[in-house]
Amino acid sequence: RHGVKTRLLTEMEIAGLMRPRHPSGHKGTYGHVMLVGSCRRMVGAGLLAAHAAVRTGAGLVTLGVPASALPAAAGRVLEVMLTPLPDNGTGEYYADMAEEILLAAEDKDVLAVGPGLGRFAGGETFLRKIIREWPKPLILDADALYLLAQDVTMLRERTDPTILTPHPGEMARLLGCSIADVQMARIDHARTFATTYQVTLVLKGNYTVIAHKTGDVAINPTGNPGMATGGTGDVLTGMIASLVAQGYDPYEASCLAVYLHGATGDRLAEKIGQQALAAGDLIEEIGPTWIEIE
Ligand code: APR
Ligand code: MG
Repeated sequence: RHGVKTRLLTEMEIAGLMRPRHPSGHKGTYGHVMLVGSCRRMVGAGLLAAHAAVRTGAGLVTLGVPASALPAAAGRVLEVMLTPLPDNGTGEYYADMAEEILLAAEDKDVLAVGPGLGRFAGGETFLRKIIREWPKPLILDADALYLLAQDVTMLRERTDPTILTPHPGEMARLLGCSIADVQMARIDHARTFATTYQVTLVLKGNYTVIAHKTGDVAINPTGNPGMATGGTGDVLTGMIASLVAQGYDPYEASCLAVYLHGATGDRLAEKIGQQALAAGDLIEEIGPTWIEIE
């Protein structure tokens, strides 16, 4: 434990991480995000993540969806490009689609898998291949974490930057313990996982914990229970992916996105109240919140 730090994120630290856009910047300067999710039953999840990625500044955003869910996703977020992926015929993902994803993601800067992915037979094989073969930053959320929990040790085969964004239930599944156990020692669990598997671990919930692979931990003071509503986690995943695509270090991107996401929720709650807060509304407040902080 020697030398590892635990700190509360401050607005000053976050403002210091924010980078202005370069006057001669172009789409390529700000990176290309690839998201995989949005099966037909949860088509909104990937779209929320993709839209949030656009609003957080990515140059380009592509969303992979099961082929037959493509019409349901089309035209909902005008800035997002869609890529059809293997489908079981009903808009759900099908078995091992790693090859197709690796091919589609080849020219992208970051790959985020999970929002609206769903659960399907053969998913573990698929995730293992992505973990082994995707040679750039990888973000795993939602049902990608469910697949990962089948065999967490597959992370040992990962060599490039990796960010995991579990809520307490997903963390409990990864660790094989109860949610109460996770919540009793959030910082310890996040730090141990991050150092053991050499990943950035974002343990969500009130006072989100962001653990670095070295064991350093940041705690986020922003956010409110109005954000306990479907899709807010998907928005966070899109924000982290967006910052990583723009070249932010994965851990700094995670700290900045988590703080900004919570501050956006606080700003929105002031405006419309915690009760009414909806994930999609967060997206339009990201920009004003960024300006307020920088
Ligand atoms: N205070 C501050 N922040 C909060 C609070 C709170 N009381 N409650 C929730 N949040 C924040 C979390 O920190 C996190 O950033 O809201 C977000 C919720 O994220 P998720 O739990 O992932 O919720 P959701 O987006 O609905 O997930 C969608 O993916 O994770 C799966 O099981 C989940 O199927 C669901 C889907
Ligand atoms: Mg979630």
